[in-house]
Amino acid sequence: MMLTVAMPKGRIFTEALVLLKQAGYDIPDDLEHSRKLMIDVPNEQLRFILAKPMDVVTYVEHGVADVGIAGKDVLLEEERDVYEMLDLRISPCYLAVAGLPNTCVHPIAPRVATKYPNIASTYFREQGEQVEIIKLNGSVELAPLIGLAERIVDIVSTGRTLKENGLIELERIVHVTSRFIVNPVSYRMQDRAIEHMVDRLTYAIEKAGESNEN
Ligand code: PRP
Repeated sequence: MMLTVAMPKGRIFTEALVLLKQAGYDIPDDLEHSRKLMIDVPNEQLRFILAKPMDVVTYVEHGVADVGIAGKDVLLEEERDVYEMLDLRISPCYLAVAGLPNTCVHPIAPRVATKYPNIASTYFREQGEQVEIIKLNGSVELAPLIGLAERIVDIVSTGRTLKENGLIELERIVHVTSRFIVNPVSYRMQDRAIEHMVDRLTYAIEKAGESNEN
């Protein structure tokens, strides 16, 4: 039986493909450059669907994808009914609070722009800080520049986006890597195929770890 794998389009995708290849999967090279959103790899009994990172979890939760690759940021933002089975240790980054250097004097309830309203409100509540959360869908670094918010909560990877927009990191919230997630029903129905995939990925993660050490 075919296993459906939900993959996040964008920056995680390339690293996820490398890992799958290291796990021994024979993935066609054009997968990365194709505009197709559903691609079958019959010799591996795999079907890939390509979704926005935030939507990968939705496809897996609804069982239309058996497994998927999702960032820990997405998994922390919304509690979903999926099993998180492996830390793939790819696409490392972190969630941080950032702002313009000259807005260190806090207004009473600073406005915080973010794609992660739940993570941000939990974080500031735990800090005992009252803030107003403003939800955006991307290019969050723009918000302080244009006066929509005093702070942002967003992903920092290389730090280039912050730097090039004159923003500074104020606090780190949590480290983020990509995870292998599984639909609970699929895990029961397709346990052998999924376990096999977990084993192969575990091997690839360890191999990647070893080569990083060298
Ligand atoms: C992410 C993130 C930051 C940026 C960080 O955005 O939200 O904006 O990457 O990367 P850096 O530290 O290497 O500069 P993404 O490119 O996914 O697009 P988005 O702004 O539409 O969310």
